[in-house]
Amino acid sequence: MSRYLVVYASHFGQTRKIADRIADTIRARGHIAEVADVVACKVPPPVQDYDVLVAGSRVELGRHDGVLVEYLRESRQALAFMPWAFFSVSAAASTPNAGADPNGYMEVLFSDLGSRPTRAKAFAGGLPYRKYNFILRFIMKRVSRSAGHTTDTSRNHEMTNWDDVRAFAEDLATLSPLRRPDPRMMA
Ligand SMILES: Cc1cc2nc3c(=O)[nH]c(=O)nc-3n(C[C@H](O)[C@H](O)[C@H](O)COP(=O)(O)O)c2cc1C
Repeated sequence: MSRYLVVYASHFGQTRKIADRIADTIRARGHIAEVADVVACKVPPPVQDYDVLVAGSRVELGRHDGVLVEYLRESRQALAFMPWAFFSVSAAASTPNAGADPNGYMEVLFSDLGSRPTRAKAFAGGLPYRKYNFILRFIMKRVSRSAGHTTDTSRNHEMTNWDDVRAFAEDLATLSPLRRPDPRMMA
């Protein structure tokens, strides 16, 4: 049994939903999985307290959440000695032939961090038009039209493939913790 931390940054709720589903699947495989909203919790749990980190962020304006990125940056030393996974949630991942890293969002992040996760996955998020205010709904409709996403603003849309989420989480549940270096050896 391993201890997992699933930390996420979500604006309109889809990334949170995916994080919760990942944690549920990991728990169903007999592990402990805690979930934390990196933005709301103010002081995120230290990754050193866990065996495996799973981090997920929504994409807005081509970027992952800055608070989550900062958390990963500050945790870089610990992450070098433990398995960790990243999932990216975007509208771009919903397009056919989006590829493993739509628009290269994750590559930008990993290059910037100078660190790569053990696993990485891009999930299609949602277009919850009814949650947007009038102006954002107008903008998102225009952006969606040019990107080939749905423009039906009369309802919220969820594009996430939950079978993909489950498969990703089941794979994560098989990651074994690496042996940590003795801190005395790192002094
Ligand atoms: C203001 C805004 C900007 C966005 N920018 C992008 C983007 O640059 N690329 C993309 O693929 N999706 C973009 N999206 C779509 C979101 O990534 C998608 O709705 C995702 O599900 C949001 O996750 P959340 O519900 O956890 O906030 C944007 C959405 C909003 C509201």
